Amino acid sequence: MKELIELIDKHLDEYIAIVYPEDIFKAMKYTLMLPGKRLRPVMCLETTRILGGDINNAMPSACAIEMLHVQSLIHDDLPCMDNDDFRRGKPSNHKVFGEANAVLAGDALLTFAPQLIIEKSKGLTTEQILRILHEYTKFAGAYGLIAGQVVDIESEGGKLVKSPKETLDFIHLNKTAALFRLAVRIGAVAACADETIIEKFDNFAKKFGLAFQIYDDIMDEISSFEELGKTTGKDKNSGKLTYVSLYGLEEAENKFRYHIKECYDIIDKYKSDIFKEILDKLSQRIGSN
Ligand code: IPE
Ligand code: IPE
Ligand code: MG
Ligand code: MG
Ligand code: MG
Repeated sequence: MKELIELIDKHLDEYIAIVYPEDIFKAMKYTLMLPGKRLRPVMCLETTRILGGDINNAMPSACAIEMLHVQSLIHDDLPCMDNDDFRRGKPSNHKVFGEANAVLAGDALLTFAPQLIIEKSKGLTTEQILRILHEYTKFAGAYGLIAGQVVDIESEGGKLVKSPKETLDFIHLNKTAALFRLAVRIGAVAACADETIIEKFDNFAKKFGLAFQIYDDIMDEISSFEELGKTTGKDKNSGKLTYVSLYGLEEAENKFRYHIKECYDIIDKYKSDIFKEILDKLSQRIGSN
């Protein structure tokens, strides 16, 4: 996994050149090049590989997903959203470049990502590129990630249209699982997989995304700045609807373990060391009860 992350980092760096006006490119690259876990591009490329495709064909799309993810982090940290001063162990984008440039850097990443897919996906057919762009626009927008973020923010004030349980699952499936679904779907499309396989991986990513956000909710409660590189204890202070706030720590951990077990069951037959490593790392941190 280390080599794959290095390869992704190299491409992320090369894809964005710093030209005039330098401030915007510096702001885009600042959060992007900080050491994130790179889970989404890794899962995208690993899906391509285990389905018999060439990871070079999927590299522009994998990097585009990381750019979309980083856009969501930059905007998520803004004072009008979660108001977080730290990200990936360093001051948040708006703390370094100011709010206007942080908004613009997010917008620029969001729009550069599809440009990158179009310009650099040399080994893919026009049909594959069109399908990937369709997936990107569906999962990034108001039918995906943005829907989750809107309901997440609304829920802070206790403004719920659906039941707390339904609302929470809607938030997690959209703000978090959407990008993991996008990652594996694109990876599968790049490997020319058929629809049944795409849906199988989609189902895995849905469960993984849910488990991953439950994990993030738990970490906000039990972890430290040193471990996470972001301020902890914020969900409780801002009255967020999370698995910990709704079910309590112990039950949140049980639900995390339940979904991770489902993930192991689905991915087991593909014999992927990388998917196993990702699942192992998360489960080891929560431990067994
Ligand atoms: C943070 O995602 C946002 C959530 C969906 C919880 P990651 O935990 O994958 O963040 P990085 O990419 O490693 O910084
Ligand atoms: C993550 O939600 C969803 C995003 C789109 C960023 P959080 O707000 O819990 O993520 P962190 O904890 O700030 O990374
Ligand atoms: Mg948030
Ligand atoms: Mg946040
Ligand atoms: Mg969080």
